[in-house]
Amino acid sequence: MNDYDIQDFLSGRYKIMYTEAQIEQRVSELAQQISDDYREKLPVLVGVLNGAFMFLSDLAKKLEINCEIDFIKISSYGNSQTSSGQIKLKKDIDCHLEGREVIVVEDIVDSGLSIQYLENKIRSMQPKSLKFVSLFLKEGTAKVPYHIDYVGFKIPNEFVVGYGLDFAQKFRNLPALYILK
Ligand code: PRP
Repeated sequence: MNDYDIQDFLSGRYKIMYTEAQIEQRVSELAQQISDDYREKLPVLVGVLNGAFMFLSDLAKKLEINCEIDFIKISSYGNSQTSSGQIKLKKDIDCHLEGREVIVVEDIVDSGLSIQYLENKIRSMQPKSLKFVSLFLKEGTAKVPYHIDYVGFKIPNEFVVGYGLDFAQKFRNLPALYILK
């Protein structure tokens, strides 16, 4: 399983679920929606590392509003293909979130456990508002109830890599979303 090489993806051996252009188009639409909803406000975007680094970067560049940017690093998968179910905090948020408009930026929601963890943690910091944006959302895999305010693409239950998503820490730098088979 660890023999995958980035050239296998770039040469077309693996199926693309969403191309770079499709992702860019959808990120623009999400940025427009968020810009419209947060005019005259100063939200804090909290990117969830590592997966959300690319989405947060592209999304932030397309926003037409002032914002602040911070990060939290959590991990539930380790190097396996399925979630361990145990969320570990690897790097905490630095920003003081009390009274702030917070938007958590995720790359993908699968079981919902990360969202549940983040919601509990951030709500305890008493933000003025809390919303979630996720570029991808797996359908039919939720283990807990959750709500995502802005969803890029609802996707089937496939193991996907690229655009921030990894397999054993690799392939995050692929510009499209690929199905790893
Ligand atoms: C991935 C992804 C989400 C989470 C979603 O992170 O970035 O944060 O899993 O899965 P869930 O809905 O089942 O909780 P991961 O723990 O793999 O860390 P990474 O972002 O560093 O890849």
